Amino acid sequence: MIETKLHDDVLELVMNDPPVNALGASVRQGLAKALAEAQGDPAVKAIVIRGGGKMFSGGADITEFGKPPVEPWLPALVDAIEASAKPVIGAIHGMALGGGLEVALGCHYRIADPEAKLGLPEVSLGILPGAGGTQRLPRLIGAEAALGMIVSGTPIPASKAAQAGLVDKLSESDDSLAAEAIAYARTLETPRRTGDRSVAADPAVFERFAADNARKIDNLDAPKACIEAVKAATELPLTEGQEKERALFMQLISGDQSRALRHVFFAERAAARIDGLPKDIRLRPIGRVGVIGAGTMGGGISMNFLSAGIPVTIVEMAQEALDRGTGVMRRNYEATATKGRLTAEQVEKAMDLLTPTLDFDALASCDLIIEAAYENMDVKKEIFARLDGIAKPGAMLASNTSYLSIDEIAAATARPQDVLGLHFFSPANVMKLVEVVRGARTAPDALATGMALARKIGKVPVVAGVCYGFIGNRMLIPRQTNANALLLEGATPEQVDRVHTAFGMPMGPFQMADLAGVDIGWHRDPSRIESLQDALCAQGRWGQKKQAGFYDYDGKRQPSPSPVVAKIIDDFRVKAGITPRDISDEEIMVRTLYTMVNEGAKILEEGIAQRASDIDVVWNYGYGWPRHKGGPMFWADTIGWDRIVDGLMRYKDRLGDDFTLSPLLMQRAAEDKPLDR
Ligand code: 3HC
Repeated sequence: MIETKLHDDVLELVMNDPPVNALGASVRQGLAKALAEAQGDPAVKAIVIRGGGKMFSGGADITEFGKPPVEPWLPALVDAIEASAKPVIGAIHGMALGGGLEVALGCHYRIADPEAKLGLPEVSLGILPGAGGTQRLPRLIGAEAALGMIVSGTPIPASKAAQAGLVDKLSESDDSLAAEAIAYARTLETPRRTGDRSVAADPAVFERFAADNARKIDNLDAPKACIEAVKAATELPLTEGQEKERALFMQLISGDQSRALRHVFFAERAAARIDGLPKDIRLRPIGRVGVIGAGTMGGGISMNFLSAGIPVTIVEMAQEALDRGTGVMRRNYEATATKGRLTAEQVEKAMDLLTPTLDFDALASCDLIIEAAYENMDVKKEIFARLDGIAKPGAMLASNTSYLSIDEIAAATARPQDVLGLHFFSPANVMKLVEVVRGARTAPDALATGMALARKIGKVPVVAGVCYGFIGNRMLIPRQTNANALLLEGATPEQVDRVHTAFGMPMGPFQMADLAGVDIGWHRDPSRIESLQDALCAQGRWGQKKQAGFYDYDGKRQPSPSPVVAKIIDDFRVKAGITPRDISDEEIMVRTLYTMVNEGAKILEEGIAQRASDIDVVWNYGYGWPRHKGGPMFWADTIGWDRIVDGLMRYKDRLGDDFTLSPLLMQRAAEDKPLDR
């Protein structure tokens, strides 16, 4: 794990534990041993620590968390590095993250490849840097700058780290880093220990920082603990500060939030794995993508590929729609440029890769064609039948349908093996989730290519099987059915939504309906009023786009309770002979959240999702499920399957005639076991 090379009087220690040189027990033991031996070796004048492979280190080994500790502990190792009587130089390339950066902070000097990134991302795992990072970083770059890095968890480029004083020297390049580090080591006579420094800050700095970030860190334990630990660095000597850091670390790591956030980390990586596929499968080359439809979805989808440097041919039926669609894309890019996140050249580069056309035959040159047309099976079948006659052999044909059967769509072609679903979420240029829908006859290489391509354009893809609504939208169905029923029985849209936002969702079912459009799926006959949705739509309350839906809007997307809606609901109750009753928040939880979990369990038992954690990834990235609650399936596991079953049984009579309990859910509740197979 640790390779040692003596270059005359400089000892080079190379951490070699692919893929990320995580600081597991054997790496720690190897480093500690080599360091101790170097202290007693008169031939060694200085020590260089660097990482082999693609990075310095991705940090502590997260898989060790929760297991019995193995010595040496990372904090003790970092202390030993700092205590070295001979100068130690950290040579950083790729990434130095978390414990990796803490090892570098224990070094007396740091040299970095200009392309390297340095960060303390522990907060995104619900913990804080626990190997002295909260104490040494402020001593090196100041309390305010350290707060920014530690509380955001966002890595900074080496150039910025050099300006901040975190890096002493930038190398010419990645290739020359090792040689430059050794040469640099020869110029250094004595250790220079960060722990010997002190850092001062006005206590008001911490209060101000917490107040400025209140919205982001509200309800989260880790960022608050990070602030407390950095404050300790300004008040206490190193050892006492480290004790404080350790105490906070131990508290966080045993908490539910950290467990949930670590689950999300591994869930996201597990989602990339496709069951039953050979690892060495050959991907199909995708040089050009075709998109059918220049509406909101088609435009957003296209932008993902353009931004990744992949040319797109976008097809519409009328020039006006094509111009409108490309205009929106350009304006979206320009808005991003105005915020400083793109340069004018990057905007032009992306737009130059776009070929707008009315000629359907132009799709013949595309390796992947994504249909983003109207959500109607007949329309889709017609498009795919036409594509069958145009697309080149081996081209992948994808539908962005949110609900419809990929198998039925595929049957409209003579090449069902090339057909799959690529379900993007709106706004498609922003939302990370893509459900990659595997039809009964989708070829393994087409599926693998879909997954790899989605990752290439920066998305988080999850494999889903064919069913109405796939994973995410299928789980929305019981939630919305119950939410609607609750309104009739006595709840208000505000009450139902409040339960969801208090839980941590960005919005509740009715705010979401207003955003998506209350008129989606409406029959468009104002005289036919069979549901609340019909009644709202008949009065032009189509959602945010009309400034009226389940809520009133003030032009700034800010919902306020609507007396008109209250009256519509009242009238409906009278017509249906329903006497409203008080509805508890607990009932709302059970009927709108537990029912989703039940649907998730069915999705799993039917093999629509490969694993329970995939369902969590869908809800994290597609619907804003609070990451510190892991995802619906993880959350259910945390509160207990038996509690979910009990709750559902208690309200069984109110869950509608179609409601059935998932057998898998009942079985797991009886066995008290997690849902994943
Ligand atoms: N510990 C254990 N395994 C890790 C790991 C870590 N710190 N970081 C990554 N891995 C594993 C991943 O799970 C994945 O395993 P898999 O192939 O079996 O799925 C494999 O390494 C490759 O990871 P990625 O697919 O994420 O590789 P990328 O090249 O895309 O990204 C990375 C590399 C940026 C380093 C990314 O993996 C990452 O962000 N890792 C976590 C970084 C982090 O949070 N570090 C802090 C750890 S906590 C800590 O240090 C506590 C200390 O303060 C005491």
